Amino acid sequence: MIVLSLAEIADVVGGRLHRAEAATEVTGSVEFDTREVTQGGLFVALPGEKVDGHDFAAQAVAAGAVAVLAAREVDAPAIIVPPLAQGQAHERSVALTGDKDGAGAAVLAALGKLARHVVQKLAATGLTVVGVTGSSGKTSTKDVIAQLLEPIGATVAPPGSFNNELGHPWTALRADQHTRHLVLELSARGPGHIAELAAIAPPKIGVVLNVGTAHVGEFGSREGIAKTKGELVEALPEDGVAVLNADDPLVAAMASRTKARVVTVGTTASAQVRAADITLDAEARASFRLITPAGEASVKLPLHGEHHVGNALAAVAVALELGATPVEIATRLSALQRRSARRMEVTTRPDGVTILNDSFNANPESMRAGLKALAAMAREGRRSWAVLGVMGELGEDAVTAHDEIGRLVVRLNIAKLVVIGPEAAAMHQGAHQEGSWGEESILVPDVGAAVALLHDQLRPGDVVLVKASKVAGLWRVAEALLSPAPDNSPSHERSNGGDA
Ligand SMILES: Nc1ncnc2c1ncn2[C@@H]1O[C@H](COP(=O)(O)OP(=O)(O)O)[C@@H](O)[C@H]1O
Ligand SMILES: [Mg+2]
Repeated sequence: MIVLSLAEIADVVGGRLHRAEAATEVTGSVEFDTREVTQGGLFVALPGEKVDGHDFAAQAVAAGAVAVLAAREVDAPAIIVPPLAQGQAHERSVALTGDKDGAGAAVLAALGKLARHVVQKLAATGLTVVGVTGSSGKTSTKDVIAQLLEPIGATVAPPGSFNNELGHPWTALRADQHTRHLVLELSARGPGHIAELAAIAPPKIGVVLNVGTAHVGEFGSREGIAKTKGELVEALPEDGVAVLNADDPLVAAMASRTKARVVTVGTTASAQVRAADITLDAEARASFRLITPAGEASVKLPLHGEHHVGNALAAVAVALELGATPVEIATRLSALQRRSARRMEVTTRPDGVTILNDSFNANPESMRAGLKALAAMAREGRRSWAVLGVMGELGEDAVTAHDEIGRLVVRLNIAKLVVIGPEAAAMHQGAHQEGSWGEESILVPDVGAAVALLHDQLRPGDVVLVKASKVAGLWRVAEALLSPAPDNSPSHERSNGGDA
């Protein structure tokens, strides 16, 4: 963060000082985890279901924090934030912190105000905020954008999926006077959420990837999702840029909802930044000709799955706006690293079995993307396995959506389907109905049964996709297949909600 005095912070958040000197300056980072506190930092006390950050105030100060952002008086120098008025507590903030009396929501609201203040100050001296939203691919695209922008200037982007009322301001507050680009992922669980996040760190460039069916249960319909995702482009200024996926009609239609200049990306001939002549190698990595208004270049993506082409094009449009040339961009795209775990992680075991670990999360669109990548990898005669679990939060469409995935597995000619858990049983039934499938589809009760079956039946050369929503915990399958020792470790990504 930029250096700010406690007086200025109190003023920005509308709080009061407790046992603290107005002139004391915060010179370190803003953290909500005492283990991350740095010298001169600010500790954010968040009440939670199990522990309350307020009880760790003294510990945070002992670790170097100069003050605590708190909802009530603590045993340390603090800025006490004002309580929220009745009904003002954002329901997602309450859900996030798990505390019922709104203290956590009040602290998060203050954190948001502080982030906005810092971002506004930095925007005046040349910081560009880039926001990414969509139903699938936000984290992957954010990681690509960051890697394209880092060579142009200092870039701050969140680790993993840090994308909601906590992760968003926390990330924004990592920017300082040296930062040129702040790349943020904006997620939503309901109408208004994207607008609120955009107000915390107003983007100059906004990217909308796609409108799918993730969390359709909460939004009511795909149109409802489109309405919410489009809040990002509504927040852009006149001198801003909206990067829209021309291949997704609901995204393309957002052009009418923004004051900003529109740049379209996609494979459609009319797209301004587009990919042509896409081919996939034996590991489903795409090569294509990148065509932009500034020139052309050849790209070979090191990421697995054709769906990364659209994500990459969106990132290209952002990098072009910020001064990179097509040739520089193509070189950087070819050297991309996968930064966030359990998204199309491809590992080949010593015995020649390849595991495609895409167990981080799933919705119908990302399931299709993962299955297509699996099918591409099986082209050269390899036996393919789809090991799939439930896709969560689909509301009343859940059964149909699972049934359709089962049918797609058959149509893509995938050799074996292992469906894990009764919640996902409609996939197994869909597969049966699509063809005269007998032994090819197996329904197993849980992760343990799937692992036992796979240990028994996998043979050299097989390729296995492991994918489900986070709740299914299928990374345990991937990890068991990759390491002989049992592993029950929880997700270690810094994810703070997994919203869409
Ligand atoms: N453009 C896309 N279309 C469909 N699926 C995608 C796309 N981009 C990524 N995915 C898949 O979606 C899942 C989630 O990816 P991630 O980048 O974490 O997205 P998000 O942050 O939006 O949840 C992964 O399985 C990934 O392979
Ligand atoms: Mg994400």
